[in-house]
Amino acid sequence: MIDVQKIRKDFPILDREVNGKPLVYLDNAATSQTPKQVIDAIVDYYQNYNANIHRGVHALSQEATDKYEQARIKIQKHFNAAKAHEIILTSGTTHSINIVANGFSSILKKGDEIIVSALEHHSNIVPWQMLCEKTGAVLKVIPMNEEGELLMNVYDELLSDKTKLVFCNHISNALGTINPIEEIIIKAHGVGAAVLIDGAQAAPHLAADVQKLDVDFYAISAHKVCGPTGVGMLYGKEEWLNKLPPYQGGGEMIAEVTFKKTTYADLPHKFEAGTPNICGGIAFGAALDYMNTIGFDAIEVYEHELLEYATKKLLEIEGLRIYGTAKNKTSVISFNIEGVHPYDMGSILDKLGIAVRTGHHCAQPIMDFFKIPGTVRASFSFYNTKEEVDVLVEGVKKAKSMLL
Ligand code: ALA
Repeated sequence: MIDVQKIRKDFPILDREVNGKPLVYLDNAATSQTPKQVIDAIVDYYQNYNANIHRGVHALSQEATDKYEQARIKIQKHFNAAKAHEIILTSGTTHSINIVANGFSSILKKGDEIIVSALEHHSNIVPWQMLCEKTGAVLKVIPMNEEGELLMNVYDELLSDKTKLVFCNHISNALGTINPIEEIIIKAHGVGAAVLIDGAQAAPHLAADVQKLDVDFYAISAHKVCGPTGVGMLYGKEEWLNKLPPYQGGGEMIAEVTFKKTTYADLPHKFEAGTPNICGGIAFGAALDYMNTIGFDAIEVYEHELLEYATKKLLEIEGLRIYGTAKNKTSVISFNIEGVHPYDMGSILDKLGIAVRTGHHCAQPIMDFFKIPGTVRASFSFYNTKEEVDVLVEGVKKAKSMLL
């Protein structure tokens, strides 16, 4: 059971005002807020053991290295990876995806096929288009229906022995659809294709088990799970990470360098060139600790209640349409009021202290599908309350009366 009032005390920012009104933060799909336990971990690092890692013999460097590697193990355990070196610490989901896309540029050949879903964020479209341009591979798309669910019968038809890679998000950032990734992975493996799942939007709502999923790659950003920005994870099966070439050259990722030849370090360092975001990595571990203390089972139940409550209340407003009505969805509501531009709605809500995202949500193909310029998106976290949903609903009604 979630004790939301107790939890809210962990988030100092939730006490502030915006435009003279209490902040109602409903932009959690863009970034989550940071509890003081994570802020404390950041302060502790800079106040007490700031040093570069894997390099020095001195005590501070050793301490920082130990904490950083402990964080990697926390992340490994959280996602149930078989080995700690299958967790590559990156700057975020986009970086993680680009490591894989770059790696496959030396594997794919002309005529090979890559499948993505119609529900992707630009970060899971553009790298594959770039990969296709480089290799002559062909990009295919699993379409979706009006509810925002993937057409799995078309996926079956797209799969063939030409398919080498399949990419799909676990949860759509724009619509909240939870995709049937178990089925996507099994079927892709059936034709010998590798699968990368973008877990950026799923990580705050559920704990994925990469071994159970048998997924080849899984990517997330720490800032969606109460951690800082600028750090994330690429999980990759050991055999795949060994097969892919490094993404960036530099210090830390080498075994030996001469002017004739350089050999690369073992995993995970092969993919971690340069000084990493040390504090960010440690805080990422602290953030997962925090979320696991609350518990993902409790988070799922509570957020589902918020989703149902908010959906019902918003649909009582005449002229309001929700985009993304999948049977299996998370606490994200994308909507518009007929005749109102999402930007205007978002601006008025902001004046009322309510933070939502407006626009195409880096998912223009979804907006094109619905023939709209964008939506207003309210995304709820375990620290939001039903009272905040009520404030949103009243705000939308007020904005509607001002704009129409
Ligand atoms: N991908 C993030 C969002 O959906 C930034 O808002």
